[in-house]
Amino acid sequence: MQIARTIAEYRAHRAALLAARAVEGRPGLVGVVPTMGYLHEGHRSLMRCARADCAIVATTIFVNPTQFGPNEDFTRYPRDEARDFAICEAEGVDIVFAPRVEEMYPAGAETTVSVGRLSTVLEGAARPGHFDGVATVVTKLFSIAQADRGYFGQKDAQQLMVIRRLAEDLRIPTEVVGCPIIREPDGLALSSRNVYLSPEEREQALSLSRGLRAAEAAWQDGVRDADSLRRRVLDEIEAQPLANVDYVSLANQGTLDELRGAVGAPALLSLAVRFGATRLIDNILLTP
Ligand code: PAJ
Repeated sequence: MQIARTIAEYRAHRAALLAARAVEGRPGLVGVVPTMGYLHEGHRSLMRCARADCAIVATTIFVNPTQFGPNEDFTRYPRDEARDFAICEAEGVDIVFAPRVEEMYPAGAETTVSVGRLSTVLEGAARPGHFDGVATVVTKLFSIAQADRGYFGQKDAQQLMVIRRLAEDLRIPTEVVGCPIIREPDGLALSSRNVYLSPEEREQALSLSRGLRAAEAAWQDGVRDADSLRRRVLDEIEAQPLANVDYVSLANQGTLDELRGAVGAPALLSLAVRFGATRLIDNILLTP
């Protein structure tokens, strides 16, 4: 496994591997898995998807300062580079791109990428500027990685939509691939931020997946009223004394317009809940 700190190093490794692995003169696919590190099974599942499809798999590890708000956890975001590299190695990753901030944001940088309406609702409303930071760094990572495919988790459903939109709008020749949410056996969606939770908070955080599953069960029983479905989720979470709900949303899966009255599939049921300073998100897709 090669570790690249600079764009030039990454490009050199990519070119050398492509030449070495070309089958009958035809280069294989390059896949990229962008991450902020502190890797867990969710990230590993993306690496496995990429490994199954692609001749060359690159992972990027970069805690992107521009997607954190002034009062968010950028400086205390968990980091463990040695452990991350070992995980990448174990997953058969070929190249890890782990740049310093100056490599991604050169002095005097003034260019940002902003995806329109999709990035202003839900997570975008709760975290102003967040998706501009994500869109900007992912555009740079796509441009650097020169990958045929980029792999992202459905865990961050709105982020996945924003990235699909930006790749389409900017005519970026990297296909955006979405991969399913990985959960702990008890239902908690894996997140690098789960390490912040106290034992009590972690126990109460199970209400997120429980609420989503309750709403899904109601949906399968034929409940179609948007408020009733949101209420199923809220009832579970509001019963937890340490939980503060940011939002529970049932929205059109293509536009993220909030749904009222009778819901037609597919719809995205998503939520953000704070436990102390820790903010958790989760979602489920309601399909026919
Ligand atoms: P990060 O939170 O490290 O997540 C990296 C990728 O892993 C994202 O595509 C995310 O959706 C996916 N992921 C996280 N938890 C998951 C889970 N439980 N199951 C499946 N996939 C999961 O998302 C980011 O970093 C950043 O915003 C980034 C896209 C790298 C841009 O900085």
